[in-house]
Amino acid sequence: MCGIFGYVGTRSDAPQMVLAGLKKLEYRGYDSWGIASRENGQRPAALAVEKHIGKIGQAETVLIDSTLAIGHTRWATHGGVTDANAHPHLDCEERLAVIHNGIVENHESLRHGLKARGHTFRSETDTEVIAHLVEDELTVVPEGSEQLVQALMAVFRRLDGLSAIGVLDTRTRCIAAAKNGSPLVLGWGNGENFLASDSSALLEHTRRLTFLEDGQAALVLDDTIKLYDAATGEPLLDPKVWDITWADEVADLEGHPDFMSKEIHEQPRVLRKLAEQCAPDAVALARMIAHASNVHFVGCGSASHAGKVGEYLFSRIAGKQVSFAVGSEFGYLEHFIDPKSLVVGLSQSGETIDLLDSMKAAQRRGAKLAALVNVEGSSLYRLVDHPVLLGAGPERCVLATKSFTAKLAVLLMAAHAMHGRVEHGRELVERAADEIQAFLTDGRAEMMRTLAEKIVDREHLYVIGRGPSYPMALEAALKIKEVSYMHAEGFAGGELKHGVIALIDEGTPCIVLAPNDDSFHAIISGAQEIKARGGFIVGISPRQSDVWDLHIPVADVGEGAELVNAVPPQVLAYHLARLRGLDPDKPRNLAKSVTVK
Ligand code: G6P
Repeated sequence: MCGIFGYVGTRSDAPQMVLAGLKKLEYRGYDSWGIASRENGQRPAALAVEKHIGKIGQAETVLIDSTLAIGHTRWATHGGVTDANAHPHLDCEERLAVIHNGIVENHESLRHGLKARGHTFRSETDTEVIAHLVEDELTVVPEGSEQLVQALMAVFRRLDGLSAIGVLDTRTRCIAAAKNGSPLVLGWGNGENFLASDSSALLEHTRRLTFLEDGQAALVLDDTIKLYDAATGEPLLDPKVWDITWADEVADLEGHPDFMSKEIHEQPRVLRKLAEQCAPDAVALARMIAHASNVHFVGCGSASHAGKVGEYLFSRIAGKQVSFAVGSEFGYLEHFIDPKSLVVGLSQSGETIDLLDSMKAAQRRGAKLAALVNVEGSSLYRLVDHPVLLGAGPERCVLATKSFTAKLAVLLMAAHAMHGRVEHGRELVERAADEIQAFLTDGRAEMMRTLAEKIVDREHLYVIGRGPSYPMALEAALKIKEVSYMHAEGFAGGELKHGVIALIDEGTPCIVLAPNDDSFHAIISGAQEIKARGGFIVGISPRQSDVWDLHIPVADVGEGAELVNAVPPQVLAYHLARLRGLDPDKPRNLAKSVTVK
């Protein structure tokens, strides 16, 4: 949560560069934004600060020329969404500008002490205490090029909670950073260096990146970056520099009105690429799964639904039991993990805090770790023994679409690889990719728009499925509610009659996921029961049935059905959002990467 971008160098358009970087990171939070830069040539050095509520993506603003700037796009935790609470936050003297991602849990007592020492606060945020604490610390740390980073480390040691912090100092012309929990990436340039919350914002400037680890601090100067152990203040020599190969962001919408539409349409290409390139990784993952005495899939949000689909796929295709838990719950279930366990984390960003905590807890118990992850170099990627890169490219819409189906594709191939049939898994993914492409171009996507027009004013919508279609129903409902704000719930088809059926009345839309598998007849019975109570039945299925009030035909791609069935609800959710006048890329209250508890 919260996007961070900082620059130290010789380019005089640093504030504009920070603005452009933050626009790329807007999916991390879009309540408000702010940029602070050092006014060139001012004596004494002064800060220029611009802060606004609202989305930075729409911001047109004239910024001063400067060679040193830092900025932030906010997902509020402490303090409402106001200009004053937007970052950066300044010290009393306005020498420092602080941006922060995370939570300072002991901020109240720290604020109390600072006020008693005469500091004046301008915001309600937890972050502002950092600016004043560093200001105090600078009075005791000896002057010199490392003064700021030493002061920040002293402050960092007093903070409770998980935080990523950046501090710009107008006087020593540098940025210091420290992190625990939330991600920070350092970019190495030529006579210029960068700081960001995500590598994706840096790739247009440099591919030479250093990922700050928990408990580390950094000093970013124009000619070098220095790393430190924040606990001892000692420098860390020879920091690891990664040469990232990950595809740079295609800023262009390629004719689409928004990233959600673009990313939905990218799915056939992403799946074909996985089918072509990912078989060795799927085989290696299958081998790890086969050798483990117990296997656990963990993920959050859409990734959790992919994990749950995986539980079914491994049972049905490979005869292998895999258990599944959401990231925020795994910690309450992990007591039986031992060195023979394998824990597989699923994540687009590789930065979701609940998932990372689960993986670290499993690691402490000696388990082997693997991951399906989209972002190369992310915390999850670096943590595990075997990361499988999804290769979906940057996903800018807050909703997971292509990264979700990419995870399903890897799981499908890995499940088949358990019995030496990875080739068959590959073929299923290719067939699904062809069918998704056809669906998006042959008029069936238009049927979803017509359906959206029919149901746009309904209050509730339900989705049902059995077997692997059950987590797919959960995912379909999540897509619809997060982007259109229509209340949608997914259910296991058989559970409906145990209570949920009470919610059905005349015209209630109910989407039925009915692949041509062993669940078909039972799910049709469930649909009949809903129809008998007035429900409007939308069947996503290769098969005809009298129960359908609206049939969305999809090709029968066998065990690739989940890949295909993911897409019609994505398209429906998209049109519901559009018809309701909502921005599908940035639903209210959400952020793409959740790095706070
Ligand atoms: C947030 C996003 C979801 C995403 C979830 C997990 O809640 O809004 O779209 O599924 O985080 O993110 P991850 O990056 O771990 O897949």
